[in-house]
Amino acid sequence: MAELLVLYYSVGGSVKRMAELVASGIERVPGAAARVRTVPRVSTGIETRSAIPESGAPYAELRDLEECAGLALGSPTRFGNMAAPLKHFLDGTSLLWQGGALAGKPACVFTSTASLHGGQETTLLSMMLPLLHHGMLVMGLPYTLPELNATRSGGTPYGASHHAGVADDQPISDAERSLCIAQGRRLAELALKLAA
Ligand SMILES: Cc1cc2nc3c(=O)[nH]c(=O)nc-3n(C[C@H](O)[C@H](O)[C@H](O)COP(=O)(O)O)c2cc1C
Repeated sequence: MAELLVLYYSVGGSVKRMAELVASGIERVPGAAARVRTVPRVSTGIETRSAIPESGAPYAELRDLEECAGLALGSPTRFGNMAAPLKHFLDGTSLLWQGGALAGKPACVFTSTASLHGGQETTLLSMMLPLLHHGMLVMGLPYTLPELNATRSGGTPYGASHHAGVADDQPISDAERSLCIAQGRRLAELALKLAA
């Protein structure tokens, strides 16, 4: 059984819902399983977070990255970039980088924005950079998926995306949903091929 790590950060729930869809895509592949993890908030003031989340996915540890055969990384767009808590976690992975622990593993990225042109693509591309430094094999979404041309909301060749609206209340569209699931499925299929 190959485990794929779905690592995300979410405050309003949009990226969390995407992570669940990516995980469901992974689980559709025989021989693959999703390990869903999140990261805590970061604070510039007094550290108030608890050691474990009150609900939902557990916090990620370095061993989750080490043990899993691939990674789907999801973040809300924050000023056209990934959210600080996720970057903070990645900045703590230098021991893995030194040992090449992630080199050769497949990875993909996904994001959610409030506005349609608020930086989905810049966020997705910049999320790839640390993964490339780790030697991961970053994969996008191909235009052979019809939803990529048909979508009127999110969905990019760089990874799945969701247009959540300024109130963060837009439901995930059918095209966005299909692309999230396809992204998980493709990640799992590639991980299994690489392991064979
Ligand atoms: C500090 C901050 C910066 C943000 N920057 C952007 C942005 O650059 N573009 C955008 O469209 N939305 C931006 N947003 C909105 C979030 O990306 C959007 O609400 C997202 O869907 C939240 O995901 P979540 O529900 O998983 O937390 C920002 C939100 C915050 C709090």
